[in-house]
Amino acid sequence: MYLPKEVDRILYSGEQIAQRVKCLGAELTRDYDGKNPLFICVLKGACVFFGDLIRQVECPLQIDFFSVSSYCGKNSTGVVVRDLSKLPDVRGRDVVIVEDILDTGHTLSRLKKDFLEREPASIKIAVLLDKECRREVKGFTADYTGFVVDDLFVVGYGLDYNQDYRNLPYIGVLKA
Ligand code: IMP
Ligand code: MG
Repeated sequence: MYLPKEVDRILYSGEQIAQRVKCLGAELTRDYDGKNPLFICVLKGACVFFGDLIRQVECPLQIDFFSVSSYCGKNSTGVVVRDLSKLPDVRGRDVVIVEDILDTGHTLSRLKKDFLEREPASIKIAVLLDKECRREVKGFTADYTGFVVDDLFVVGYGLDYNQDYRNLPYIGVLKA
């Protein structure tokens, strides 16, 4: 197993992630039965999770992508950088925003507001990881969560540190 020297340990193996993603897919399949939801991948971090998740959803759906950034190194800048002219058209759609990790909550709460202004029929949030203990946007939660994690900086399975480690097939803890 490829374990870069900067990675301290594996938090969730590829197999554990696959099992959990399968459960999330089953939940989404039930909830979106008879609808044609639009799944939106928040780039870049959610790309791997997104590809696996949509293949576990057994109902008609469509996909789109949106690029957002707020992180620099291990710290959220608090400023959510995005190009609103590239926001997918969500009017009247049942939208599922798919993100890698919910941390302070600034990114997803901002994004949810952006989408709500464009009048979707409904909007839900799916995240692979939730660092509940780091929330700054009080009361903000996801509708579908893979794993709740402690205050650790994690990489792999799409998640990066300064754009590295996205290709690891597991979620690992970065050394301090
Ligand atoms: P928030 O606005 O603080 O909720 O930040 C969410 C974004 O920060 C996520 O989409 C990730 O891109 C990034 N992020 C937060 N924690 C981590 C981590 O442990 N590893 C990699 N990226 C992280
Ligand atoms: Mg992200």
